[in-house]
Amino acid sequence: MLSIVDKETYWKLVDVGYERLIPKPEIWHLKSVQDLVALSVLQHCEDESIAEIGGGASRLLPFLAKRNQCANIEEFRGENGGPSSEIVIENVENISTKIGEFSELVESESFDTVFSISVVEHVGSDRLKGFFRDCHRILRPGGIMCHLIDIYLEDVNGDNRYASSRIELYREPFETGLFEAKGDLLVSKEAVFSTRYVTNPDNVMMLWNRSAPHLVEKRQCAQSCSLLMLGVKI
Ligand SMILES: C[S@@+](CC[C@H](N)C(=O)[O-])C[C@H]1O[C@@H](n2cnc3c(N)ncnc32)[C@H](O)[C@@H]1O
Repeated sequence: MLSIVDKETYWKLVDVGYERLIPKPEIWHLKSVQDLVALSVLQHCEDESIAEIGGGASRLLPFLAKRNQCANIEEFRGENGGPSSEIVIENVENISTKIGEFSELVESESFDTVFSISVVEHVGSDRLKGFFRDCHRILRPGGIMCHLIDIYLEDVNGDNRYASSRIELYREPFETGLFEAKGDLLVSKEAVFSTRYVTNPDNVMMLWNRSAPHLVEKRQCAQSCSLLMLGVKI
């Protein structure tokens, strides 16, 4: 599946009580939705081996590690707004490397599920192929890959060329036979904002303006939305 997360999906997840599984966020933002979507995919996992990629100060691993073997594949170097010192979570192994580097620190076919939240958009377009191939390498056959990916979308008269090009790249792992899509695959011409989509609120966009000022102009005319990318390793 490759889709844009909409309000209907989010509201259903709140209705069935997913918010109660993890601590309440200090401030409501797009990650609050992405967390619940990831939880809806992962919450039934039991006695499984799960890796969060770029988990930073993970909000989901404390919950998932109660019933599963969990790892956080994260360098803790302060890159892309992540933490700059190691965060230790009970029963979670920290593995200091980057996915896409095919590091021996992460054994091949060692995980049932890999997931990430707000990570994939930071992987350069020239490195995405390697990133997904590395996800494929570390998963067992039949394993699940789930990414929640930030994307800026402008309205129908706006400039959505970058968003379209990224959607093309996110489709590739499904089209090249690495993963089976669980559901529909978004096409690049659908990279247009719709009022149905869940977005980051403007106060959060203003906070991001301070930490990443090079995107101020983009944020003035775009909404910050989320993709769900979900596949099964072939
Ligand atoms: C914006 S932060 C998100 C952190 C966390 N997932 C969250 O939602 O709060 C992005 C994180 O991804 C990590 N990261 C970026 N590229 C990565 C890669 N190829 N493999 C593993 N981690 C990566 C960075 O170190 C950083 O901590």
